[in-house]
Amino acid sequence: KLRIFPYENHGRTNKIKIHLPIGRKEYVMANEKLHICDHPLVQHKVSLLRDKNTGAKEFRELVSEISMLMCYEATRDLPLKKVQIQTPIAIAESNVISGRKLAFVPILRAGLGMIEGATALVPAAKIGHIGIFRGKGGSDKTVANEYYCKLPFDIDERDVIITDIMLATGTSAVHAIQKVKEAGARSIKFMCIIAAPEGIAAIQKAFPDVEIYCGALDDGLNEDLYITPGVGDAGDRLFGTK
Ligand code: URA
Repeated sequence: KLRIFPYENHGRTNKIKIHLPIGRKEYVMANEKLHICDHPLVQHKVSLLRDKNTGAKEFRELVSEISMLMCYEATRDLPLKKVQIQTPIAIAESNVISGRKLAFVPILRAGLGMIEGATALVPAAKIGHIGIFRGKGGSDKTVANEYYCKLPFDIDERDVIITDIMLATGTSAVHAIQKVKEAGARSIKFMCIIAAPEGIAAIQKAFPDVEIYCGALDDGLNEDLYITPGVGDAGDRLFGTK
């Protein structure tokens, strides 16, 4: 069933059309913390990413390009300060970013694929890593097991953008946000390419202050907890492991 949800995007109220089974409406509430990137370039590239015939090389390139475009949106609120610059003609009153420090924290493995594009825009950002697995060796798929965590030592002076290609149940995302919050990050955003309503609901329940950026909001999860229609296993497609 096609439903139309209003959502806020940079102060505008847009409408998004998504297919949701009846009863799912409560998962996605119009709110100012959810940013769905409706730029035509992002939408086009997300469609190419979904295609099962897109190979690992192209998948990687697309993830990088989409991440760069999304990072542009996610950094839209960086504060500016005025400086004077001598041009060949005159002195310009011009803007520069006012010393706000950023860190990216990819959730391994798929989140790594988003770092090249993000750091192309913010080369000075530091990068932390969080490795989380779910459901290995028969363990509960809805429990996050952390196997690695290395965050910048000065993360408490930084605004952090956590990346993962897929926001499915939200289990890993909530765990990663918790870790970064405990480490003292000044602010936290979560950036993914495809989100399920369940994942958005999980983050917003646990951390209502976290801004979420996604390239597409899909229908939901299947019985294996994959996003549908989604892209399949993003890690495998990115690294060509299947
Ligand atoms: N992780 C993936 O790689 N794909 C999904 O659809 C969900 C989680």
